[in-house]
Amino acid sequence: MKGVLLAGGTGSRLHPLTRITNKHLLPIFDRPMISYGVEAMVKAGISEIMVVTGGTHAGEFLRLLSNGDEYGVDRLSYAYQERPGGIAEALGLTERFVGDDRVLVMLADNIFGRTIRPTIEAFATQQAGARIVLSEVTEPSHLRHLGVPELIDGRVVKIIEKPTEPPSNYCVTGVYCYDPTVFSVISTLVPSGRGELEITDVNNHYVSAGLMRYDILEGFWGDAGESIDAYYEVNDFVRRHGANLG
Ligand code: G1P
Repeated sequence: MKGVLLAGGTGSRLHPLTRITNKHLLPIFDRPMISYGVEAMVKAGISEIMVVTGGTHAGEFLRLLSNGDEYGVDRLSYAYQERPGGIAEALGLTERFVGDDRVLVMLADNIFGRTIRPTIEAFATQQAGARIVLSEVTEPSHLRHLGVPELIDGRVVKIIEKPTEPPSNYCVTGVYCYDPTVFSVISTLVPSGRGELEITDVNNHYVSAGLMRYDILEGFWGDAGESIDAYYEVNDFVRRHGANLG
């Protein structure tokens, strides 16, 4: 299984901090944000990783991560996203790297208290399709900024991106497992209202095909890129408790 770490985007929700650097290079406690994603993948047993970035600070990722040896990565590759066209577009750039393999995709601003290894192990027992990780979020105001699944009898029947009326108390976190058909799904997508190829549209494809499974996360999850408050909440958590434990 390959790993794809998505570290592009404009980071506009963290302006002006992200006017001078890429969001995923900002500190979370004592390390740049992206290093937590690399660590999460390595601890989950994935050692071939592609980092997708864009914008004006791409060179800093090479300076920081180099060839990945220091982080336990066997093969570290990089791709450059010419313009911020969405998560699914960024994933599309990794098609040749992933080849016929399965892929774990992670948004590099998502930080997890515990290791995501159980999800990767569960996906390995899945014949085909996709797997997502849900986290319980109780405030509707928070859910309105995220992807939210509608659940009926324990099955995801639809995922709604940034719903005005959240259909459940769970959000879809930025960890996604796909079989190699994901690239043909991406090629059918059209840009959303915000002009991006949405990962939620990819996920809904697998939901409609009856091929989407999920895990409910135990422990902390935070999207450090969501707002300045979320950024500090993640920092406070990691400083006190650490990340990717287990
Ligand atoms: C993205 C996804 C959303 C998901 C979130 C998790 O949102 O589109 O479904 O819940 O990441 O961090 P974005 O950060 O692009 O607004």
